Amino acid sequence: MTVRLTLGIETSCDETAASVVTSENIVLSSVVSSQVDLHARYGGVVPEVASRAHVGLVNPVIAQALVEAGIEYKDIDLIAATKGPGLVGSLLVGVSAAKALSLVWDKPYIGVNHLEAHLYSCFLEEPDMELPLIVLLVSGGHTILVSMQDHMEYSILGQTLDDAVGEAYDKVARYLGLGYPGGPEIDRLAEKGDDSIEFPRPMIKEGFDFSFSGLKTAVINYVRKNPETPTEDIASSFQEAVVEVLITKARKAALETGAKGLCIGGGVAANSRLREAIYDICLEDGIHPFVPSRAYCTDNAAMVAATGWLRFKKDGPDPLNSGADSNLKLPSGE
Ligand code: KG4
Ligand code: ZN
Repeated sequence: MTVRLTLGIETSCDETAASVVTSENIVLSSVVSSQVDLHARYGGVVPEVASRAHVGLVNPVIAQALVEAGIEYKDIDLIAATKGPGLVGSLLVGVSAAKALSLVWDKPYIGVNHLEAHLYSCFLEEPDMELPLIVLLVSGGHTILVSMQDHMEYSILGQTLDDAVGEAYDKVARYLGLGYPGGPEIDRLAEKGDDSIEFPRPMIKEGFDFSFSGLKTAVINYVRKNPETPTEDIASSFQEAVVEVLITKARKAALETGAKGLCIGGGVAANSRLREAIYDICLEDGIHPFVPSRAYCTDNAAMVAATGWLRFKKDGPDPLNSGADSNLKLPSGE
């Protein structure tokens, strides 16, 4: 079978990324230029600053992805870019770059759903993973529990009713005076802390939806009343509450649907405690755990290229007059 090459482009938030991936899901290059330092001083991503930075970075990042893959533009078979969800100004930079290259290089273009790309990041390292699967997608903007029956065939079992889990991490970290993004900071501090503060486990026994806003408020109220408590203990106890809710629901979903594997994806999947807990529950229940490398959990373009190729095979290319959609949803129940 002829190997096909997809160039993926990701600019939905604050990472400018480009990658070349084969039709067998082999990653030939994955370049990620993070703008985190640019936004850190504001305590969060500033949309206008992000779009301007993408404009300056997108061409050099694409050029580097081709060089690192050891290929020329002529070798590319498909150009895929994240079309949503995300910050509209940022998305438009990647989508416009991809469509311009598609026109100039005479290659097909496809727009990719960022959430679907996170779902598929687990296949980058284990392309032959057995289905059906449960995927727990946990990022700064989303918390979604997905049942994947077959490739490109999945349904949403549950999602957050308020804050996404990464958002709760970032808000708690901000209140504690930690840096941005807060998730990695809390993760690092939690290792040194004691997790004995009993924070609530919201909706732990209620179906597959999540709610993290009340937990965030409970942490803030506790810190107000107990200002002497070491930050490490707050971080550790907050993290324990979050992880217990996530893994309880993921485990229940895997057992109820008869899933062969349990995967995590999205930025929060880089969390040490969550990664460890997934291995533990899978070992107990005889389910195959899949915990992607941290580089494939956070935003990257390899997942965009791999997903773009699958979508292209199923639905064909997108027209060059198609745009970006900042509120794009994960298609469910296809
Ligand atoms: O997937 P991602 O890179 O961007 C979005 O699409 O949202 O996720 C970013 C989120 C941020 O909220 C960040 O705090 C969180 O992932 N995050 C973590 C860790 N690393 C990143 N949360 C907890 N522990 C971590 N180690
Ligand atoms: Zn993401």
